[in-house]
This record gives sequence, C-alpha cells and structure tokens, in this order.
Amino acid sequence: MTKLTQASLRARLRADTRLAHEQLDEEVSRFDLTTPIGFLCFLTMQSAALQTLSALQVSAKAGAMIRDVLERAALDLRQLGSSTQQSPAAIEPVHPLAIDYAIAGSRLGSQLLKKRWQAATDPQVRRASAYFSAPSYIEMWASFCNTTEAMSSSGTLANQIVQDADRIFHLYLECARAPQLTNRAIHA
Ligand code: HEM
Repeated sequence: MTKLTQASLRARLRADTRLAHEQLDEEVSRFDLTTPIGFLCFLTMQSAALQTLSALQVSAKAGAMIRDVLERAALDLRQLGSSTQQSPAAIEPVHPLAIDYAIAGSRLGSQLLKKRWQAATDPQVRRASAYFSAPSYIEMWASFCNTTEAMSSSGTLANQIVQDADRIFHLYLECARAPQLTNRAIHA
C-alpha cells in the first residue's frame, strides 16, 4: 500500500513490490544454480520473461540490455544442451519505466545469484559463463533512480507504473512456475 512517508515514485516502487519480489526470490531460489538442470531452469525462466518484455515498447537502453542478456542466456542454454525454444508468456503493454525498474533492478540481485553460481564445481555449469559475465548495467539503475526519485509517488502515472512493475514480477513468477521447469526441478 502507498504510505504517506513515501516521497518519491522510487520509494513507492520498492515498498509496493516488496511482497512480489519476496515471492519471486523464494521461487527462483528453488533452482540450484550449481547443477546443469537447476541453472538450465533459471536461464529458461530468464529467457522466457525477457523475450516477453522485448516484444513490448521499451526504452533504447533497456532494449540493448535485454538483447545482450538474452543472447548470453541463449549461449549458456546451448552449452547446457538445451534444445527447446522458450515460448514467450503473455502480458499486456506496460509502461517503459516499469520495465527499466524490473530489468535494471534485477541486475542488483544478479550479483548475489552470481555468487551461488560461482560455487559450482560441475564443469558444464562453469563453462556456461556468458550470463553471469554480463555487465552490471549499474549506470542504467543509477539513471532510473535519478528519474524516479524526482517523480511523485501518487497520481495516475505513478499508480500505473507501480501496477505495471508488479505485473512484471508476476510475469517472472509465471515463467519460473512454468510446468516444465517445476517438473525438471522436482525430478532432477
Ligand atoms: C533468487 C532470485 C533473486 C534474488 C535472491 C534477488 C535479490 C535481490 C537483492 C539482494 C536486491 C537488493 C540489492 C541491493 O539493494 O543492493 C534486489 C533488488 C531488486 N531485484 Fe531482485 N533478486 C532476485 C530475482 C529478481 C528477479 C528475477 C527480478 C526481476 C523482476 C528482480 C528484480 C529486482 C528489483 C526491481 C530490485 C530493486 C529493488 C528496489 O530497490 O527497489 N529480482 N534483488
């Protein structure tokens, strides 16, 4: 819920999507990034979600970053022997700033996930190193924070961006819970 103390859209985004982010953390943490099957499930989720977002209207910077990360995920998926093409999920158009938030913010969490992946001893997992060698894109996050710290946390535009960001988290959740990933993670 929006709190009176939330001065900016930046602060409101963090507060209002916290629950969705926690659910996503929990779901994604089921994928053991040190095993070929766990890492493959993680990359399949990323690939499906990013393909879906790339079909929408995105900022130029976000478009370039999404293409880069998608290519890296595809390289690693080939390395892990995945032959299946991920089908994009369905989502209605969302505000480009909501996409900037989700993808630039997700790079912050990636630093933590990279540490989990780095613990792998499996040679196939270690060779699949393109995804976690991606740049941090920290300048995109800094620019997003500058923009949204100067924006109001209330009003129609703010409501829309927050709602759209929440829908993107649910898109990732849907991709993480895709039946083929759930089955693989359980039967690995
Ligand atoms: C197991 C999976 C994940 C973990 C453990 C994780 C962890 C984290 C951590 C630790 C941060 C805070 C970093 C900091 O403040 O320096 C963060 C931020 C963020 N993550 Fe994740 N993350 C995960 C998955 C994702 C995914 C898949 C998305 C895609 C939507 C995402 C979106 C974000 C966003 C938007 C932020 C910025 C939050 C804010 O400050 O407003 N995360 N994540």
